[in-house]
Amino acid sequence: MDLHNGRALTGAEIVTLLIEARARTLLLTAALSEEDLRRQHDALMSPIAWDLGHIAHFEDVWLRQNAHSGDHGSEGLSGIYDPFTNPRSVRDELPLPSLMEVRRFLGEIRRKVLEGLESLPLDGRGADRRSRLLSDGFVFRMVLQHEYQHNETILQTLQLKQGDPYRAPRALEPPEPHPGAPEPGAMVRFPGGTVLIGTDDRSTAYDNERPAHEVELSPFWIDAYPVTNGEYVDFVDDGGYEDATHWSEAGWVWRTKEGLETPKHWTQSGRGWQERFMDKETTLDRLRPVSHVCYWEAEAYARWAGKRLPTEVEWEAAAAWDPGRGQARSYPWGEEPPTALHANLDALLFETTPVGSYPSGCSALGCWDMLGNVWEWTSSDFRGYPGYETFPYPEYSEAFFGEEYKVLRGGSWATRFGAVRNTFRNWDYPIRRQIFSGVRCARDD
Ligand code: AVJ
Ligand code: FE
Repeated sequence: MDLHNGRALTGAEIVTLLIEARARTLLLTAALSEEDLRRQHDALMSPIAWDLGHIAHFEDVWLRQNAHSGDHGSEGLSGIYDPFTNPRSVRDELPLPSLMEVRRFLGEIRRKVLEGLESLPLDGRGADRRSRLLSDGFVFRMVLQHEYQHNETILQTLQLKQGDPYRAPRALEPPEPHPGAPEPGAMVRFPGGTVLIGTDDRSTAYDNERPAHEVELSPFWIDAYPVTNGEYVDFVDDGGYEDATHWSEAGWVWRTKEGLETPKHWTQSGRGWQERFMDKETTLDRLRPVSHVCYWEAEAYARWAGKRLPTEVEWEAAAAWDPGRGQARSYPWGEEPPTALHANLDALLFETTPVGSYPSGCSALGCWDMLGNVWEWTSSDFRGYPGYETFPYPEYSEAFFGEEYKVLRGGSWATRFGAVRNTFRNWDYPIRRQIFSGVRCARDD
Protein backbone atom coordinates (compact mmCIF):
# COMPACT_ATOMS: atom_id res chain seq x y z
CA MET A 1 0.00 0.00 0.00
CA ASP A 2 1.29 3.43 -0.97
CA LEU A 3 2.02 5.61 2.04
CA HIS A 4 2.13 8.73 -0.22
CA ASN A 5 5.50 9.51 1.35
CA GLY A 6 6.66 13.06 1.80
CA ARG A 7 3.41 14.86 2.38
CA ALA A 8 0.50 15.24 4.79
CA LEU A 9 -2.27 12.65 4.75
CA THR A 10 -5.94 13.57 4.65
CA GLY A 11 -8.28 12.08 7.25
CA ALA A 12 -9.81 9.88 4.54
CA GLU A 13 -6.38 8.57 3.50
CA ILE A 14 -5.48 7.81 7.11
CA VAL A 15 -8.70 5.82 7.57
CA THR A 16 -8.11 3.87 4.33
CA LEU A 17 -4.53 3.03 5.27
CA LEU A 18 -5.46 1.98 8.81
CA ILE A 19 -8.27 -0.25 7.57
CA GLU A 20 -6.03 -1.87 4.96
CA ALA A 21 -3.27 -2.57 7.49
CA ARG A 22 -5.73 -4.22 9.86
CA ALA A 23 -7.38 -6.24 7.10
CA ARG A 24 -3.99 -7.74 6.28
CA THR A 25 -3.15 -8.51 9.91
CA LEU A 26 -6.48 -10.29 10.26
CA LEU A 27 -6.07 -12.12 6.94
CA LEU A 28 -2.65 -13.45 7.93
CA THR A 29 -3.93 -14.70 11.29
CA ALA A 30 -7.51 -15.67 10.36
CA ALA A 31 -6.93 -19.42 10.08
CA LEU A 32 -5.06 -19.73 13.39
CA SER A 33 -6.65 -21.54 16.33
CA GLU A 34 -6.70 -20.35 19.93
CA GLU A 35 -3.83 -22.74 20.61
CA ASP A 36 -1.83 -21.50 17.58
CA LEU A 37 -2.14 -17.92 18.84
CA ARG A 38 -1.13 -18.57 22.44
CA ARG A 39 1.63 -21.06 21.90
CA GLN A 40 5.32 -20.16 22.06
CA HIS A 41 6.25 -21.73 18.71
CA ASP A 42 9.92 -20.89 19.17
CA ALA A 43 11.91 -19.36 22.02
CA LEU A 44 12.99 -16.55 19.66
CA MET A 45 9.47 -15.46 18.85
CA SER A 46 6.45 -14.12 20.73
CA PRO A 47 3.16 -15.96 20.90
CA ILE A 48 1.14 -14.39 18.07
CA ALA A 49 -1.54 -13.25 20.54
CA TRP A 50 1.17 -11.02 22.05
CA ASP A 51 2.00 -9.43 18.67
CA LEU A 52 -1.70 -8.74 18.08
CA GLY A 53 -2.26 -7.17 21.50
CA HIS A 54 0.98 -5.21 21.15
CA ILE A 55 -0.14 -3.82 17.76
CA ALA A 56 -3.33 -2.53 19.43
CA HIS A 57 -1.47 -1.14 22.46
CA PHE A 58 1.08 0.66 20.27
CA GLU A 59 -1.77 2.26 18.30
CA ASP A 60 -3.41 3.30 21.58
CA VAL A 61 -0.21 4.89 22.90
CA TRP A 62 0.59 6.82 19.70
CA LEU A 63 -2.72 7.65 18.03
CA ARG A 64 -4.86 8.14 21.13
CA GLN A 65 -2.47 9.31 23.81
CA ASN A 66 0.53 10.95 22.14
CA ALA A 67 -1.17 12.33 19.04
CA HIS A 68 -3.64 14.09 21.32
CA SER A 69 -1.40 15.13 24.20
CA GLY A 70 2.07 14.87 22.70
CA ASP A 71 3.68 14.39 26.07
CA HIS A 72 5.35 10.96 25.98
CA GLY A 73 9.12 10.83 25.80
CA SER A 74 9.31 7.05 25.56
CA GLU A 75 7.68 4.27 23.64
CA GLY A 76 5.06 4.32 26.40
CA LEU A 77 4.25 0.65 26.22
CA SER A 78 3.27 -0.80 29.57
CA GLY A 79 2.08 -3.99 31.22
CA ILE A 80 2.33 -7.25 29.33
CA TYR A 81 2.99 -5.46 26.00
CA ASP A 82 6.19 -3.78 27.12
CA PRO A 83 8.80 -5.59 24.99
CA PHE A 84 11.67 -4.70 27.31
CA THR A 85 10.28 -6.01 30.62
CA ASN A 86 8.87 -9.09 28.86
CA PRO A 87 11.48 -10.79 26.65
CA ARG A 88 10.11 -12.90 23.81
CA SER A 89 11.10 -16.24 25.36
CA VAL A 90 8.79 -15.77 28.38
CA ARG A 91 5.81 -14.16 26.69
CA ASP A 92 3.83 -17.41 26.81
CA GLU A 93 3.78 -17.06 30.63
CA LEU A 94 1.99 -13.72 30.44
CA PRO A 95 -1.78 -13.49 30.90
CA LEU A 96 -2.32 -13.26 27.15
CA PRO A 97 -5.75 -12.43 25.75
CA SER A 98 -7.91 -15.08 24.10
CA LEU A 99 -8.69 -14.89 20.40
CA MET A 100 -11.97 -13.08 21.05
CA GLU A 101 -10.41 -10.77 23.63
CA VAL A 102 -7.58 -9.69 21.37
CA ARG A 103 -9.93 -9.05 18.44
CA ARG A 104 -12.16 -6.99 20.73
CA PHE A 105 -9.11 -5.06 22.00
CA LEU A 106 -7.92 -4.30 18.44
CA GLY A 107 -11.42 -3.15 17.46
CA GLU A 108 -11.98 -1.07 20.58
CA ILE A 109 -8.73 0.89 20.22
CA ARG A 110 -9.38 1.39 16.54
CA ARG A 111 -12.90 2.73 17.20
CA LYS A 112 -11.52 5.25 19.69
CA VAL A 113 -8.74 6.29 17.28
CA LEU A 114 -11.25 6.95 14.53
CA GLU A 115 -13.50 8.87 16.93
CA GLY A 116 -10.58 11.08 17.96
CA LEU A 117 -9.29 11.64 14.43
CA GLU A 118 -11.61 14.55 13.69
CA SER A 119 -10.24 16.62 16.53
CA LEU A 120 -6.60 16.24 15.43
CA PRO A 121 -4.92 19.05 13.45
CA LEU A 122 -3.50 17.07 10.51
CA ASP A 123 -1.62 19.98 8.99
CA GLY A 124 0.22 21.11 12.13
CA ARG A 125 3.50 22.91 11.51
CA GLY A 126 4.50 23.91 15.04
CA ALA A 127 7.81 23.08 16.69
CA ASP A 128 6.25 21.46 19.74
CA ARG A 129 6.39 17.71 20.14
CA ARG A 130 2.77 17.08 19.21
CA SER A 131 3.01 19.13 16.01
CA ARG A 132 6.16 17.28 15.04
CA LEU A 133 4.34 13.98 15.55
CA LEU A 134 1.37 15.06 13.47
CA SER A 135 2.99 17.08 10.70
CA ASP A 136 3.18 15.34 7.33
CA GLY A 137 1.27 12.40 8.79
CA PHE A 138 4.38 11.07 10.57
CA VAL A 139 2.74 9.43 13.57
CA PHE A 140 0.14 7.70 11.38
CA ARG A 141 2.77 6.28 9.08
CA MET A 142 4.81 5.22 12.12
CA VAL A 143 1.86 3.27 13.52
CA LEU A 144 1.11 1.77 10.09
CA GLN A 145 4.73 0.69 9.63
CA HIS A 146 4.72 -0.79 13.12
CA GLU A 147 1.77 -3.00 12.18
CA TYR A 148 3.42 -3.92 8.84
CA GLN A 149 6.64 -4.87 10.64
CA HIS A 150 4.79 -7.03 13.12
CA ASN A 151 3.12 -8.78 10.16
CA GLU A 152 6.59 -9.89 9.09
CA THR A 153 7.44 -10.89 12.67
CA ILE A 154 4.25 -12.98 12.79
CA LEU A 155 5.25 -14.65 9.51
CA GLN A 156 8.68 -15.48 10.95
CA THR A 157 6.84 -17.15 13.82
CA LEU A 158 4.55 -19.00 11.42
CA GLN A 159 7.55 -20.34 9.48
CA LEU A 160 8.57 -21.88 12.83
CA LYS A 161 5.03 -22.97 13.70
CA GLN A 162 4.47 -26.02 15.91
CA GLY A 163 1.58 -28.35 15.11
CA ASP A 164 0.05 -28.27 11.63
CA PRO A 165 1.98 -26.14 9.13
CA TYR A 166 0.65 -22.63 8.47
CA ARG A 167 -1.60 -22.57 5.43
CA ALA A 168 -0.25 -19.49 3.67
CA PRO A 169 -2.93 -17.35 1.99
CA ARG A 170 -1.03 -17.08 -1.31
CA ALA A 171 -2.32 -14.27 -3.49
CA LEU A 172 -0.17 -14.32 -6.62
CA GLU A 173 1.69 -16.60 -9.01
CA PRO A 174 5.45 -15.96 -9.24
CA PRO A 175 6.58 -14.03 -12.33
CA GLU A 176 8.57 -15.70 -15.13
CA PRO A 177 12.35 -15.19 -14.97
CA HIS A 178 13.42 -12.52 -17.45
CA PRO A 179 15.30 -13.98 -20.46
CA GLY A 180 17.85 -11.17 -20.63
CA ALA A 181 18.80 -11.31 -16.96
CA PRO A 182 22.48 -11.67 -15.95
CA GLU A 183 23.97 -14.96 -14.76
CA PRO A 184 24.21 -15.65 -11.01
CA GLY A 185 27.54 -14.47 -9.68
CA ALA A 186 27.66 -11.50 -12.11
CA MET A 187 28.92 -8.30 -10.50
CA VAL A 188 28.58 -4.63 -11.34
CA ARG A 189 31.14 -1.91 -10.63
CA PHE A 190 30.42 1.21 -8.63
CA PRO A 191 32.93 3.79 -9.86
CA GLY A 192 33.35 5.52 -6.50
CA GLY A 193 32.66 9.12 -5.59
CA THR A 194 30.51 11.08 -3.20
CA VAL A 195 26.99 9.78 -2.58
CA LEU A 196 24.13 10.94 -0.42
CA ILE A 197 23.14 8.34 2.20
CA GLY A 198 20.01 8.40 4.36
CA THR A 199 17.26 10.99 4.16
CA ASP A 200 15.88 14.13 5.78
CA ASP A 201 12.31 12.95 5.23
CA ARG A 202 10.12 13.43 8.31
CA SER A 203 6.92 11.96 6.90
CA THR A 204 7.83 8.29 6.70
CA ALA A 205 11.46 7.57 7.54
CA TYR A 206 12.48 6.37 10.99
CA ASP A 207 14.93 8.41 13.02
CA ASN A 208 17.75 5.94 12.23
CA GLU A 209 17.51 6.83 8.50
CA ARG A 210 18.23 10.52 9.21
CA PRO A 211 20.00 12.78 8.55
CA ALA A 212 20.97 12.61 4.88
CA HIS A 213 24.74 12.87 4.72
CA GLU A 214 27.48 12.69 2.14
CA VAL A 215 29.82 9.73 2.08
CA GLU A 216 32.92 9.37 -0.06
CA LEU A 217 33.13 5.86 -1.54
CA SER A 218 36.05 4.09 -3.18
CA PRO A 219 35.22 2.05 -6.28
CA PHE A 220 33.84 -1.42 -5.50
CA TRP A 221 32.07 -4.34 -7.13
CA ILE A 222 28.74 -5.71 -5.94
CA ASP A 223 26.71 -8.77 -6.99
CA ALA A 224 23.90 -8.07 -9.43
CA TYR A 225 21.84 -10.57 -7.40
CA PRO A 226 21.60 -11.95 -3.92
CA VAL A 227 23.59 -15.21 -3.66
CA THR A 228 21.53 -18.06 -5.10
CA ASN A 229 20.87 -21.50 -3.66
CA GLY A 230 22.94 -22.91 -6.53
CA GLU A 231 25.96 -20.83 -5.57
CA TYR A 232 25.43 -21.63 -1.90
CA VAL A 233 25.14 -25.41 -2.52
CA ASP A 234 28.54 -25.24 -4.19
CA PHE A 235 29.89 -23.75 -0.94
CA VAL A 236 28.22 -26.52 1.11
CA ASP A 237 29.44 -29.26 -1.27
CA ASP A 238 32.95 -27.81 -1.19
CA GLY A 239 33.02 -28.42 2.58
CA GLY A 240 32.49 -24.76 3.37
CA TYR A 241 30.90 -25.53 6.73
CA GLU A 242 33.84 -27.76 7.73
CA ASP A 243 36.70 -25.41 6.87
CA ALA A 244 37.47 -22.83 9.56
CA THR A 245 39.54 -20.72 7.15
CA HIS A 246 36.34 -19.34 5.57
CA TRP A 247 34.86 -18.32 8.91
CA SER A 248 35.62 -15.47 11.28
CA GLU A 249 36.66 -16.55 14.75
CA ALA A 250 33.28 -15.72 16.30
CA GLY A 251 31.48 -17.26 13.34
CA TRP A 252 33.40 -20.52 13.66
CA VAL A 253 32.69 -20.73 17.40
CA TRP A 254 28.97 -20.33 16.69
CA ARG A 255 28.94 -22.74 13.74
CA THR A 256 30.70 -25.36 15.93
CA LYS A 257 28.52 -24.83 19.00
CA GLU A 258 25.33 -25.07 16.95
CA GLY A 259 26.58 -27.74 14.55
CA LEU A 260 25.48 -25.66 11.57
CA GLU A 261 25.68 -27.57 8.27
CA THR A 262 23.21 -25.81 5.96
CA PRO A 263 20.85 -22.82 6.05
CA LYS A 264 17.81 -23.24 8.29
CA HIS A 265 14.81 -25.05 6.76
CA TRP A 266 16.88 -27.17 4.37
CA THR A 267 16.38 -30.93 4.48
CA GLN A 268 18.04 -33.71 2.52
CA SER A 269 15.78 -36.13 0.66
CA GLY A 270 16.20 -38.82 -2.02
CA ARG A 271 15.79 -36.08 -4.61
CA GLY A 272 18.47 -33.86 -3.10
CA TRP A 273 18.06 -30.75 -1.00
CA GLN A 274 14.60 -29.49 -0.13
CA GLU A 275 13.68 -26.00 1.07
CA ARG A 276 10.51 -25.18 2.99
CA PHE A 277 8.36 -22.06 2.74
CA MET A 278 5.59 -22.23 5.35
CA ASP A 279 3.44 -25.22 4.22
CA LYS A 280 5.29 -25.70 0.92
CA GLU A 281 8.27 -28.01 0.64
CA THR A 282 10.13 -27.69 -2.66
CA THR A 283 13.21 -29.14 -4.29
CA LEU A 284 15.91 -26.53 -3.82
CA ASP A 285 15.73 -24.14 -6.76
CA ARG A 286 19.26 -23.16 -7.78
CA LEU A 287 18.04 -19.78 -9.01
CA ARG A 288 16.29 -18.62 -5.87
CA PRO A 289 18.28 -16.62 -3.34
CA VAL A 290 19.57 -18.53 -0.36
CA SER A 291 17.53 -17.62 2.72
CA HIS A 292 17.55 -18.20 6.46
CA VAL A 293 21.31 -17.72 6.80
CA CYS A 294 22.85 -15.90 9.74
CA TYR A 295 25.49 -13.20 9.45
CA TRP A 296 28.27 -15.69 10.21
CA GLU A 297 27.16 -17.95 7.35
CA ALA A 298 26.82 -14.97 5.00
CA GLU A 299 30.33 -13.84 5.89
CA ALA A 300 31.79 -17.35 5.46
CA TYR A 301 30.13 -17.78 2.07
CA ALA A 302 31.52 -14.42 0.91
CA ARG A 303 35.03 -15.33 2.01
CA TRP A 304 34.83 -18.74 0.31
CA ALA A 305 33.72 -16.99 -2.90
CA GLY A 306 36.70 -14.61 -2.74
CA LYS A 307 34.37 -11.74 -1.95
CA ARG A 308 33.15 -9.89 1.17
CA LEU A 309 29.92 -8.45 2.51
CA PRO A 310 29.08 -4.91 1.42
CA THR A 311 28.92 -2.14 3.99
CA GLU A 312 25.46 -0.70 4.35
CA VAL A 313 26.63 2.46 2.63
CA GLU A 314 27.85 0.46 -0.37
CA TRP A 315 24.54 -1.39 -0.41
CA GLU A 316 22.55 1.85 -0.35
CA ALA A 317 24.69 3.43 -3.07
CA ALA A 318 24.13 0.36 -5.27
CA ALA A 319 20.38 0.54 -4.65
CA ALA A 320 19.80 4.27 -4.74
CA TRP A 321 22.51 6.26 -6.47
CA ASP A 322 21.52 7.72 -9.83
CA PRO A 323 24.79 8.98 -11.32
CA GLY A 324 23.03 10.71 -14.23
CA ARG A 325 21.19 13.02 -11.87
CA GLY A 326 23.65 12.99 -8.99
CA GLN A 327 20.73 12.06 -6.74
CA ALA A 328 19.60 9.20 -4.55
CA ARG A 329 16.37 7.45 -5.54
CA SER A 330 13.75 6.44 -2.97
CA TYR A 331 13.45 2.98 -4.57
CA PRO A 332 15.93 1.26 -6.89
CA TRP A 333 13.76 2.03 -9.93
CA GLY A 334 12.94 5.62 -8.98
CA GLU A 335 10.18 7.36 -7.06
CA GLU A 336 7.18 5.18 -7.96
CA PRO A 337 6.01 3.30 -4.85
CA PRO A 338 6.58 -0.48 -4.92
CA THR A 339 4.10 -2.80 -6.61
CA ALA A 340 4.06 -6.53 -7.36
CA LEU A 341 5.76 -5.68 -10.69
CA HIS A 342 8.84 -4.21 -8.99
CA ALA A 343 9.79 -6.75 -6.38
CA ASN A 344 8.83 -9.84 -4.42
CA LEU A 345 7.34 -8.01 -1.43
CA ASP A 346 4.17 -7.71 0.64
CA ALA A 347 3.57 -11.35 1.63
CA LEU A 348 1.77 -12.10 -1.62
CA LEU A 349 3.80 -15.14 -2.77
CA PHE A 350 4.96 -16.56 0.58
CA GLU A 351 8.20 -17.77 -0.96
CA THR A 352 11.30 -16.45 -2.68
CA THR A 353 11.42 -15.96 -6.45
CA PRO A 354 14.27 -16.79 -8.84
CA VAL A 355 16.71 -13.92 -9.16
CA GLY A 356 16.25 -12.03 -12.41
CA SER A 357 12.45 -12.11 -12.24
CA TYR A 358 11.90 -8.37 -11.74
CA PRO A 359 13.50 -6.34 -14.55
CA SER A 360 11.38 -3.33 -13.48
CA GLY A 361 13.04 -3.43 -10.08
CA CYS A 362 16.64 -2.83 -11.25
CA SER A 363 18.71 -0.05 -9.76
CA ALA A 364 20.57 2.51 -11.87
CA LEU A 365 23.79 0.58 -11.22
CA GLY A 366 22.22 -2.65 -12.52
CA CYS A 367 21.45 -4.49 -9.29
CA TRP A 368 18.35 -6.70 -9.22
CA ASP A 369 16.21 -7.70 -6.24
CA MET A 370 17.61 -4.94 -4.01
CA LEU A 371 14.18 -4.65 -2.41
CA GLY A 372 12.20 -7.78 -1.57
CA ASN A 373 12.92 -11.50 -1.85
CA VAL A 374 15.42 -11.70 1.05
CA TRP A 375 16.89 -9.26 3.55
CA GLU A 376 20.61 -8.85 2.89
CA TRP A 377 23.25 -8.87 5.61
CA THR A 378 25.76 -6.02 5.50
CA SER A 379 29.08 -5.82 7.35
CA SER A 380 27.94 -2.70 9.24
CA ASP A 381 27.12 -2.44 12.93
CA PHE A 382 23.82 -0.70 13.69
CA ARG A 383 24.67 2.86 14.72
CA GLY A 384 23.23 6.35 14.46
CA TYR A 385 24.30 8.40 11.45
CA PRO A 386 26.38 11.54 12.12
CA GLY A 387 23.95 14.08 13.60
CA TYR A 388 21.41 11.39 14.58
CA GLU A 389 18.54 12.59 16.79
CA THR A 390 16.06 10.30 18.50
CA PHE A 391 12.49 10.86 17.41
CA PRO A 392 9.98 10.11 18.72
CA TYR A 393 11.18 7.46 21.19
CA PRO A 394 14.56 5.88 22.01
CA GLU A 395 13.30 2.30 22.16
CA TYR A 396 12.85 2.06 18.40
CA SER A 397 16.47 2.62 17.31
CA GLU A 398 18.79 4.09 19.91
CA ALA A 399 18.35 1.25 22.40
CA PHE A 400 19.89 -1.10 19.81
CA PHE A 401 22.85 1.00 18.63
CA GLY A 402 26.20 -0.67 19.13
CA GLU A 403 28.27 -3.54 17.92
CA GLU A 404 25.95 -6.38 18.94
CA TYR A 405 23.67 -5.81 15.95
CA LYS A 406 24.38 -6.02 12.22
CA VAL A 407 22.40 -4.07 9.65
CA LEU A 408 20.27 -5.86 7.05
CA ARG A 409 18.94 -4.04 4.01
CA GLY A 410 16.28 -4.40 1.37
CA GLY A 411 13.29 -6.30 2.76
CA SER A 412 11.98 -9.79 2.07
CA TRP A 413 8.98 -11.43 0.40
CA ALA A 414 7.25 -10.95 3.79
CA THR A 415 7.86 -7.18 4.06
CA ARG A 416 4.87 -5.02 3.32
CA PHE A 417 5.22 -2.44 0.54
CA GLY A 418 4.93 0.40 3.04
CA ALA A 419 7.82 -0.80 5.21
CA VAL A 420 10.58 -0.79 2.62
CA ARG A 421 12.72 1.79 0.79
CA ASN A 422 16.36 2.33 -0.11
CA THR A 423 17.15 4.08 3.17
CA PHE A 424 15.33 1.59 5.43
CA ARG A 425 17.59 -0.11 7.99
CA ASN A 426 16.81 -3.39 9.70
CA TRP A 427 19.07 -5.04 12.28
CA ASP A 428 19.51 -8.28 14.18
CA TYR A 429 22.08 -10.30 16.10
CA PRO A 430 24.65 -11.94 13.80
CA ILE A 431 23.52 -15.41 14.98
CA ARG A 432 19.91 -15.00 13.87
CA ARG A 433 18.45 -16.92 10.96
CA GLN A 434 14.75 -17.20 11.72
CA ILE A 435 14.47 -13.99 9.68
CA PHE A 436 14.04 -14.10 5.89
CA SER A 437 17.69 -13.28 5.40
CA GLY A 438 20.12 -13.81 2.54
CA VAL A 439 23.34 -12.29 1.33
CA ARG A 440 24.72 -10.22 -1.53
CA CYS A 441 28.50 -10.04 -1.88
CA ALA A 442 30.85 -7.22 -2.78
CA ARG A 443 34.56 -6.94 -3.46
CA ASP A 444 37.18 -4.26 -3.76
CA ASP A 445 38.03 -2.85 -7.17
C1 AVJ B 1 13.29 -3.21 13.05
C2 AVJ B 1 12.52 -5.46 12.92
C3 AVJ B 1 14.35 -4.91 14.36
O1 AVJ B 1 11.10 -6.23 15.45
O2 AVJ B 1 12.51 -5.42 16.89
C4 AVJ B 1 8.71 -3.63 15.99
C5 AVJ B 1 10.78 -3.56 14.52
N1 AVJ B 1 10.22 -2.20 16.56
N2 AVJ B 1 8.29 -2.99 17.08
C6 AVJ B 1 11.86 -5.36 15.84
C7 AVJ B 1 9.91 -3.15 15.67
C8 AVJ B 1 9.19 -2.12 17.43
C9 AVJ B 1 12.12 -4.12 14.98
N3 AVJ B 1 13.06 -4.42 13.83
FE1 FE C 1 6.59 -3.52 18.24
